[in-house]
Amino acid sequence: MKSILILLAAIGAQACQPKDLRDISLRRHKREFKREFEREEKAPFPPDWDEAEQILLNSFDNTTIDQWAYYYTHGAHLAGTNKTMAQWTADRWAEFGWTSRLDEYYIYLNYPVSHSMQLSYSNGSTFTPSLEEAVLIEDETSSYPNRIPTFNGYSASGNASAEYVYIGRGQQVDFNRLKTLGIETEGKIGIAKYGGPFRGLKVKNAQEHGMIGVVIFSDPSDDGNVTEAKGVATYPNGPARNPTSVQRGSVQFLSIYPGDPTTPGYASKVDSPRSDKSENVPKIPSIPISWLDAQPILQSLNGHGPAGKEVNRTGWVGAIPGVTYNTGPVPGATLSMSNIMEDKYNWIWNTIGIINGTNNDEVVIVGNHRDAWIVGGAADPNSGSAVMVEMAKAFGKLLETGWKPTRTIILCSWDAEEYGTVGSTEWVEEYVPWLAGAAVSYLNVDVAVSGPIPDMSASPELHSIGTSIMKKIIYPYRGSTNQTMYDIWSTEGSGEIGVLGSGSDYTAFIHRGIGSLDIGAGGGKEDPVYHYHSNYDSYHWMTKFGDPGFVTHKSIGQYLTLLTYHLANDASLPLEPANFATEMKAYLEELEDTISTANATLNLGDLTEAIDAFEKYSSQFNSLREEALSTNDADLLKVVNHKARDFQRGFTSQGGLPGREFYRHIVFAPGLDTGYAPVTFPGVTEAVMEGNLTLAQEWLGKTAKGISVAANILKT
Ligand SMILES: *[C@@H]1O[C@H](CO)[C@@H](O)[C@H](O)[C@H]1NC(C)=O
Ligand SMILES: *[C@@H]1O[C@H](CO)[C@@H](O)[C@H](O)[C@H]1NC(C)=O
Ligand SMILES: *[C@@H]1O[C@H](CO)[C@@H](O)[C@H](O)[C@H]1NC(C)=O
Ligand SMILES: *[C@@H]1O[C@H](CO)[C@@H](O)[C@H](O)[C@H]1NC(C)=O
Ligand SMILES: *[C@@H]1O[C@H](CO)[C@@H](O)[C@H](O)[C@H]1NC(C)=O
Ligand SMILES: *[C@@H]1O[C@H](CO)[C@@H](O)[C@H](O)[C@H]1NC(C)=O
Ligand SMILES: *[C@@H]1O[C@H](CO)[C@@H](O)[C@H](O)[C@H]1NC(C)=O
Ligand SMILES: *[C@@H]1O[C@H](CO)[C@@H](O)[C@H](O)[C@H]1NC(C)=O
Ligand SMILES: *[C@@H]1O[C@H](CO)[C@@H](O)[C@H](O)[C@H]1NC(C)=O
Ligand SMILES: *[C@@H]1O[C@H](CO)[C@@H](O)[C@H](O)[C@H]1NC(C)=O
Ligand SMILES: [Zn+2]
Repeated sequence: MKSILILLAAIGAQACQPKDLRDISLRRHKREFKREFEREEKAPFPPDWDEAEQILLNSFDNTTIDQWAYYYTHGAHLAGTNKTMAQWTADRWAEFGWTSRLDEYYIYLNYPVSHSMQLSYSNGSTFTPSLEEAVLIEDETSSYPNRIPTFNGYSASGNASAEYVYIGRGQQVDFNRLKTLGIETEGKIGIAKYGGPFRGLKVKNAQEHGMIGVVIFSDPSDDGNVTEAKGVATYPNGPARNPTSVQRGSVQFLSIYPGDPTTPGYASKVDSPRSDKSENVPKIPSIPISWLDAQPILQSLNGHGPAGKEVNRTGWVGAIPGVTYNTGPVPGATLSMSNIMEDKYNWIWNTIGIINGTNNDEVVIVGNHRDAWIVGGAADPNSGSAVMVEMAKAFGKLLETGWKPTRTIILCSWDAEEYGTVGSTEWVEEYVPWLAGAAVSYLNVDVAVSGPIPDMSASPELHSIGTSIMKKIIYPYRGSTNQTMYDIWSTEGSGEIGVLGSGSDYTAFIHRGIGSLDIGAGGGKEDPVYHYHSNYDSYHWMTKFGDPGFVTHKSIGQYLTLLTYHLANDASLPLEPANFATEMKAYLEELEDTISTANATLNLGDLTEAIDAFEKYSSQFNSLREEALSTNDADLLKVVNHKARDFQRGFTSQGGLPGREFYRHIVFAPGLDTGYAPVTFPGVTEAVMEGNLTLAQEWLGKTAKGISVAANILKT
């Protein structure tokens, strides 16, 4: 392996440390990291279906979907607290002909005990935030006595009292900006706005900058024009955000390690050795609050420290009335916060359902998590859970005809996703020897529906089948029923397929080299505001605003069902490895941009060669597949199917990406300082952004090597 490094001419790596480079890159990723598809005018209508497809599609019924949705959204099901619901899921699947069971793990979790907060103005008067979401008569689960407090999962327990500083979205670049402006963060409490990076990374960055506590607030600026300030009625009377709504959520350091933070790299059993979790979860307490509670806290900073406009950072200024988003601090004005959590080891339950195929060395896995931060969870995740039960029912109908799939199908209802994709990560860690040999693809649905517009992210080999199945699904949209899902996706949606970062259960699969697709539907700019991780993500909201009639649920379920059917049943696996070559060439161009923005010089020769080899061998693979299909040679077909199943394992790097062993995929990964949003060629790109060109060149070599391994699996 060549590792000749051409360093920056005059300036040393330190001097070149790019200040706002992360930000530039992130904006570019948003625009370009969804590769455009060649869009056809409109998919043929009505679509053509074969007999099996018709049986599957016709089985879908919005009345039963409604029943499943109702069940899942009327009982607390925080991670590790509702085994009844896991068993209920297993029982439904079993009724429809699936062999089902519960897979248990024993994991570290923490639960809220008590919390409080107080603002003391410098004149001695005080304000006490309520830290509660309003009980709404219209929305029955908002008043359940066992409703779940507003809190951050995996937050540290503790008290903090200090002057406080507004830290924007809490990204590293925000802290860099504060430093430039001379704002001290050491020993202070940070108040951060939701949006941008995963919330755990806001807390991580604050902790690394010496802060002793963090408060994270929702801001109506995320709601566009659907706000009270623009004259729109708030939930439950209208589609705007209820001002008391709070976004709960995990503060794990997701981009470093998902899963049980005490068992990195292996499954959590009752007697598993436990390692120090402090690298993966915060040491300082954090509390999430509503914009109504945030208003006086931020207003008190008005006129102190640089104003929001002057700070001039992406997403810094929000839309809370009367707030100028100054940094503060205000001498003598303090926040006191107390956050008490109960740390414990607890059982979690993944429900697993299986239909054996004729080829048991080829397995298609479909998953959705079941746990929610609230009693409801009508969108996140139980729109997906309801759809999965209906899908199990549809396959049951097909089984009744005597059908048996070519490949094994596995359904998974994960627990503890919300704390950090824990149920799926532990399961993958347990079964990885078998999965690495047998898994064809992992299909994920999390929020199946929070609005009417379909959205998809996937690894490149799934792009083609992922879009073609959309053309087979009738997709009701704003009262019109004569179009396909593809039409709505390509006209009202982005018409682009996202790159997988993290934030749901595909993470553990992808980073073991198992290709994945993530599907769901969300709201557009003018749709009702979805109260993410709030009590108002409820059955009432869903039936009134999110998806009245469960019509979008039905279409998303039908989509997932047909996609699963074709992956499990087509003689030739409908995967397109060659599309990885197309995508990697685009990522290479983006990498070249990143390198030139950083004024760096690196040798891209090995990487370019490896991508060219991949392109050549994937096209050889296509020829061999055509031959297998035209000669109908079963042995040859098995050979090509196994190549399609296996090639992506080559993209995984033993030992993982720099500083994060868990993340192994060398083509894409969650950004270190984003958590959700992806970075492509992450080993190289992150090193360039950090200004470590030695590391970048080393990772150019490792990335090229991984691509060569994948290419050689496809070679015929
Ligand atoms: C790259 O060089 C240009 C011109 O010399 C300079 O303006 C820019 O700030 C540099 N960028 C970085 C990230 O160092
Ligand atoms: C578990 O969930 C079910 C269904 O929503 C609910 O009926 C039950 O009360 C929940 N159990 C607990 C202990 O909250
Ligand atoms: C103290 O300051 C706050 C914020 O400026 C103000 O709302 C409050 O009325 C003041 N209290 C007294 C007693 O002056
Ligand atoms: C809000 O409305 C204004 C005026 O109609 C429009 O220009 C703007 O694009 C809208 N913003 C969003 C986010 O929809
Ligand atoms: C804000 O920053 C951008 C880019 O760094 C710069 O072009 C712009 O002039 C700045 N605006 C103000 C008001 O400082
Ligand atoms: C933390 O704060 C709470 C609420 O103010 C208080 O009851 C508790 O005694 C404090 N604990 C410690 C260790 O200071
Ligand atoms: C499915 O296959 C597995 C492994 O080959 C086997 O252990 C299991 O008994 C089969 N299940 C059914 C219901 O046939
Ligand atoms: C679908 O319905 C619209 C009006 O509702 C009509 O204009 C259009 O021609 C119809 N398209 C098809 C393909 O039937
Ligand atoms: C099912 O959808 C139809 C419209 O297609 C609607 O009239 C009906 O109310 C829906 N049923 C339920 C249970 O939501
Ligand atoms: C750059 O990465 C190399 C590993 O390739 C490491 O040895 C070195 O310490 C890193 N430099 C900095 C400044 O972090
Ligand atoms: Zn979710």
